[in-house]
Amino acid sequence: MNDSTVFKQIYQLAEPYLKTRFNEVHTQMSMQLAYDLLTAEGGQEDIVIPAIILHDVGWHKVPAALHLKAFGPNATSPELNRTHEREGVRLAGRILKEVHYDREKISEILKIIDGHDSRKESISLNDSLVKDADKLWRFTHTGFHIDHQRFEETVADGLDRLRKYLPGWFFTDTAHQIAKEELQQREREAENDSRLAGN
Ligand SMILES: [Fe+2]
Ligand SMILES: [Fe+2]
Repeated sequence: MNDSTVFKQIYQLAEPYLKTRFNEVHTQMSMQLAYDLLTAEGGQEDIVIPAIILHDVGWHKVPAALHLKAFGPNATSPELNRTHEREGVRLAGRILKEVHYDREKISEILKIIDGHDSRKESISLNDSLVKDADKLWRFTHTGFHIDHQRFEETVADGLDRLRKYLPGWFFTDTAHQIAKEELQQREREAENDSRLAGN
């Protein structure tokens, strides 16, 4: 079985757990970003891709009404964020065993998932790529608009938040560069929108 067949199987098994908030679109777009980072930075596709597909399956175990207390600028219960990581490890381990993934690779993937949000330092290049692909999504058009609405921010406040994250948030130069370009794009879009609105 080649990698892309097994990645598809992993995605299919993960899918029911991604039907929470916007995790399906987040996962798909972060997966694309992870491929871009792998191409530019190296790293192992057979670790990074399963890790990014599975990193947020644990949200399924956190009641949707509590998600916004767990992450984002208004988070008040960071321990819930830890819950989604721990539950993610449990579900991801089950899914990877089901597709008979290599045991050593499973252990590396689960370590990455276990600290994908709460561990602020990176333990490997593969870990850096997963962390960067996860966060880069916030700079994309789709991610930005979902976030500023759910965080109840204006577009200007959302842009400020991204400007604040940009300098120290990414582990790889490639992710930093993509984020910078995406942010410039979001700024141009905001200018155009306000021009169209006659402001
Ligand atoms: Fe997460
Ligand atoms: Fe995520």
